[in-house]
Amino acid sequence: MYQRSVTTLDAHGGGADAAAVFEEFNQSVGTGRYSPYPMFAELRAAGAVHPGIPDLGITEQAEGAAPTFSVYSYDAVSEVLSDPATYSSIAYADVIGQVMGRSLIEMDPPEHRGYRLILQHAFSRSAMEGWKTQLVEPLLDEMVAELADEGRAELVSRILFTFPVRTIAGLIGLPPEMFPLFHRLAIELIALSVDWERAERAAATLADVFAEVLAERRRVPTEDMMSILAFAEHDGERLTNEEIFSFLRLLLPAGAETTYRSSSSLLLALLTQQDQLDMLVADPSLFSAAVDEGIRWETPLLIAPRSTTRDVVLAGTELPEGSSLLLSLGSANHDEGRWTDPEVFDLTRRRQTHVGFGLKAHNCLGQHLAKMETEALVRALLSELPGLRLDPDAEEPYIAGTLLRSPPRLDVVWDA
Ligand code: HEM
Repeated sequence: MYQRSVTTLDAHGGGADAAAVFEEFNQSVGTGRYSPYPMFAELRAAGAVHPGIPDLGITEQAEGAAPTFSVYSYDAVSEVLSDPATYSSIAYADVIGQVMGRSLIEMDPPEHRGYRLILQHAFSRSAMEGWKTQLVEPLLDEMVAELADEGRAELVSRILFTFPVRTIAGLIGLPPEMFPLFHRLAIELIALSVDWERAERAAATLADVFAEVLAERRRVPTEDMMSILAFAEHDGERLTNEEIFSFLRLLLPAGAETTYRSSSSLLLALLTQQDQLDMLVADPSLFSAAVDEGIRWETPLLIAPRSTTRDVVLAGTELPEGSSLLLSLGSANHDEGRWTDPEVFDLTRRRQTHVGFGLKAHNCLGQHLAKMETEALVRALLSELPGLRLDPDAEEPYIAGTLLRSPPRLDVVWDA
């Protein structure tokens, strides 16, 4: 499936260097024990929509800035996500768009739909079957085998982060010798809040990496994502190189960071609740429910931004045109109006749509990939690392972060 190309770019950049940047990034996201969920419950009880960002202690509107509101209930969040004409996604342009480049996540209808259609089939559930057997499972065999004899590891840095980054590298069609460089650039790009200029430099270097593979695929197409993008057309025109690079850069924060966080939190849930783990091992048909429940229970990406394109009333609150909205996906996924005991991870609960992957027009393009990767990863770890359990000599794991959440570390042992 992947044509190996020879690259002249510097392929170094993994190892200690990448580990240090990752640790810096981990610290910046927050490593303290903190749960926003009690505060979300209080806010939901007081109303669906609040001025400011009260869960972060911001209740005053900033002078001269657009009025800001936070949205906490499931119904109000889903109403906003379902109406992209009234609630624009343009706010992404000022955040990740500045570094990743302009991509579909910041587009509104009708432009968004056109771009989405040309990308959608590459991420369909059926397309995932091919990626599973040809990319994800062999990659996991290799990565888990590297660990298997050790008997003890910190899983977040050893496999949970690296695996989705490698998956994206394989999906794009990068040659394996580029993986270490891609790994480091991926961390530098998503750590834009730590060092903006370094992230911009990483974005430029990624464009060089992608350009070489793109030129090769334009000459000799294969079946990878780069080949699909190389020949994709929008309004009868081929995508420009910059449009392709922006989309591929977006896949790192959108696809790698979220996926490593969701699989880390799911493993924490399973390793701290033996009854849930036993149930899953006894009945592997529960894997899909476990992955979904993990994303509801500990929503990896807590917030989605929107802005109003007109005056509108949302759950009884008047929002003037041009207001900034922060949709609390985590709070919506714990709305007691929709889920009983929402704070509990329960893989047998009745499955209902949640907003961990967004909803409607902008719903997560990579959700089938994320689910497939997470399921394959947890299956491989449980089967190849027998007796997998928390390391009794390490600090008890916990989940951290305000905007993106997951355990900073997951120290485990197994019977090697
Ligand atoms: C558990 C893992 C993941 C989570 C929790 C997640 C979450 C989300 C959410 C909440 C959105 C909607 C944002 C909004 O409406 O403002 C979104 C959109 C998106 N996601 Fe994911 N995502 C995950 C994995 C992935 C993967 C693996 C990829 C691709 C490799 C991906 C690519 C995208 C893209 C391209 C969009 C933008 C779609 C659009 O604007 O039409 N995501 N994701």
